[in-house]
Amino acid sequence: MDESATKPVTASNTPFAAAAASSCRIDPRRVHSLLGPLSSRFTLVALAECVSTNSVLLERAGQGAASGSVLVADRQTAGRGRRGRSWLSTPEASLTFSLLWRFEGSVARLAGLSLAVGLAVARGLANSGVGGVGLKWPNDILLAGGKVGGILVDLEATANGSLAVIGIGLNLQLPPDGDEEFLHRPAALAQVMALLPDRQHLLAQLLTDLAEIMDRFADGGFAALRSDWQAYHVWQGRQVRLLDGVLLDRQGLCMGADSDGALLLQTDAGLERCLSGDVSLRAV
Ligand code: ATP
Ligand code: BTN
Repeated sequence: MDESATKPVTASNTPFAAAAASSCRIDPRRVHSLLGPLSSRFTLVALAECVSTNSVLLERAGQGAASGSVLVADRQTAGRGRRGRSWLSTPEASLTFSLLWRFEGSVARLAGLSLAVGLAVARGLANSGVGGVGLKWPNDILLAGGKVGGILVDLEATANGSLAVIGIGLNLQLPPDGDEEFLHRPAALAQVMALLPDRQHLLAQLLTDLAEIMDRFADGGFAALRSDWQAYHVWQGRQVRLLDGVLLDRQGLCMGADSDGALLLQTDAGLERCLSGDVSLRAV
């Protein structure tokens, strides 16, 4: 594999590029320098191509990779979404990366982690000049009425705690059509920005916000982040349906998420708690 950690590539010195222009390859040294004092908390590797940054980083985690390891790839040949779905991206017109974070305590203590990651991504985008970002429970990043990004968190128990491989995919330009039937309309940063953030600046900003949110999550769990998350949740206080593909749809008023990240739905039968595993949130 071509690991550009060892190869010099052209680095962009400006935080923005014309929306139509393709961004340069990710140079880990450049991202490290943009991270400033946080640099020591991360170890970045950039690949031209891999199957899925989550799959490769999970393997490396099993071989002892440190907390804060980041794997970014220009191209994924089998990018993964939830429940075996695929994630499509175009090289240099998207940002696809995974971050390994190790935690004390069991996997059970990581309930709500993917929502916490959503909050960090929403903040990272806002801090990169992207206006109007929203979140859709449990793992979608929304912009201009479409899905601009997704989060996939793989969890594992370890000998002395637990680990999360946090995968994030963001569209700078719209993804290719291909054979994929999109469940939701895709969106891209280019739809709302004349000048796109440079991918290296964007990655450094996202890692900065992720570090802060992961620290708060490690201290207080999702409960500590819940109200901040709800402020971004586009379905807060609105009528929604939950589809699980098996039982009848449930319908009710979306009351946000509880301290474990479960969705709270006010139905005729009372307040119901829905775990993210197999359900999809839809408008009524
Ligand atoms: P749910 O409401 O069940 O969460 P979802 O569309 O968010 O539905 P996920 O499994 O979270 O489903 O995300 C994977 C889906 O994202 C794929 O099935 C595909 O429809 C869509 N998708 C794949 N690549 C992209 C992309 N680059 N941009 C936007 N959407 C994409
Ligand atoms: C979703 O919306 O279902 C989640 C999509 C997550 C995509 C990212 S891209 C980087 C990382 N590697 C993967 O294979 N998936 C995640």
